[in-house]
Amino acid sequence: MKNASSHKQPGVRDSFGSSFGVLVALAGSAVGLGNLWRFPYLVGQNGGAAFILIYLVFVCLLGLPILLSEFIIGRRSQASARAAYKTLAPGGSWGFAGILAIVCCTLILSFYSVVGGWGIDYLFKAVRFDFTRESGAPLDTMFSTFSTSTWRPLICHTIFLALTAGIVISGVKNGIEKFSKVMMPVLFLIILGIAIRSLTLPGGGAGVDYLFKPDWSKVTTDTFLAALGQAFFSLSLGSGMVITYGSYVKKDANILSLGAQTALADTVFALIAGCAIMPAVFAFGISPGEGPGLVFITLPHIFGQLPLGGVIAIFFFVALLLAALTSSISVMEVIVAFVIEEFKMKRRTAVIVVTLSIWALGCLCSLSLGAVDGLKLFGKTIFDLFDFVSANVLMLIGGLIVVLFVGWKLGKKDVHDELTNGGKLPIPEWFIDLLLFLLRFVAPAAILIIMIFQLLK
Ligand code: PHE
Repeated sequence: MKNASSHKQPGVRDSFGSSFGVLVALAGSAVGLGNLWRFPYLVGQNGGAAFILIYLVFVCLLGLPILLSEFIIGRRSQASARAAYKTLAPGGSWGFAGILAIVCCTLILSFYSVVGGWGIDYLFKAVRFDFTRESGAPLDTMFSTFSTSTWRPLICHTIFLALTAGIVISGVKNGIEKFSKVMMPVLFLIILGIAIRSLTLPGGGAGVDYLFKPDWSKVTTDTFLAALGQAFFSLSLGSGMVITYGSYVKKDANILSLGAQTALADTVFALIAGCAIMPAVFAFGISPGEGPGLVFITLPHIFGQLPLGGVIAIFFFVALLLAALTSSISVMEVIVAFVIEEFKMKRRTAVIVVTLSIWALGCLCSLSLGAVDGLKLFGKTIFDLFDFVSANVLMLIGGLIVVLFVGWKLGKKDVHDELTNGGKLPIPEWFIDLLLFLLRFVAPAAILIIMIFQLLK
């Protein structure tokens, strides 16, 4: 293997300024709609605490090792998703994995920015106290009326994408790092506040039991599939994100501790989001299995019945929007870094080109939900198709290639070198052996089993 840092042009590549900055940017990417919207509804659909326990096992056994692998690829190569593979394995066809990652991020950002746009619309609604006004729009049909209309979702999608582009255009240290440093702690406090309010609601105790007392009789193979899929989506694995951010991490940073802290922060956020939503769901007699509409359909009802609900709604949707933004900037950065390095474009031009492309694809996603008939492929709306192909196919294939690459192609010396910073950090030998075992055998087997189950379904 060629020493990757020789590829680096000093002073040209941006990097994170401080290790706290790296941590909040990584955690900012991981914590997003996956935690606030996807995790609670999956917990609700999959029987509560048992799902959470399985999810936690997957995060530790697979999520963290894959996160570390992507970190190793990114920091060792100091290059964006595709160039990273080409730097570490010149002449091979591994660079293909980078292309998959770019396609994956393009699809993710297209529908993610539509959902981010919904967050903006709901924030407007919250500010107008639409959820709590007696004479406001009917709550039952509010979401479906909005999401299937033409212009409003498109305008909100445009605003969300413009906000994302505005942050990414400012670069890594001044844009992404500065934004996340302020916003992640704010987000944490808002969600924590809502969780405390929810936990102290009369009748919320049933929700706490649901979250923390496992009922193993409800566990099926689907529970395992859902939990692994969620671990991938929530930790942003297999999308090239950690490779790209890892490439901005300094050579003296401790990537094991950064990876562990990112996984921990992501998990804590998901659990707090569960505590914010489930007790309220139970306190107001709503079905936990409500599905993907849980946040947008159910919560406004809850806000309507809470003391000070109108104000809590504003806080909640501010938090949702911040979480979505710190994730969407990371997805856009993967594509922008690729365009800058492959086409030698200036950051500003790259951001504009990427934003316009994603905007067009996002419009298709949004319109396919009802405004325009026939925007369907393979029997799915464009929105569902992009969601399905990115999260259920490309991320898993991406993760599989990552573990095979680090486990078999790079091997022990590179892993040891990166984790210990060339022998400077005291990381025990057994830990590296265990990691390699997980990467070589356990992770590929688990991912393949998941994919085969999905194909058979
Ligand atoms: N992890 C993010 C979330 O939970 C989504 C994401 C996926 C971000 C892939 C970056 C890359 O919302």
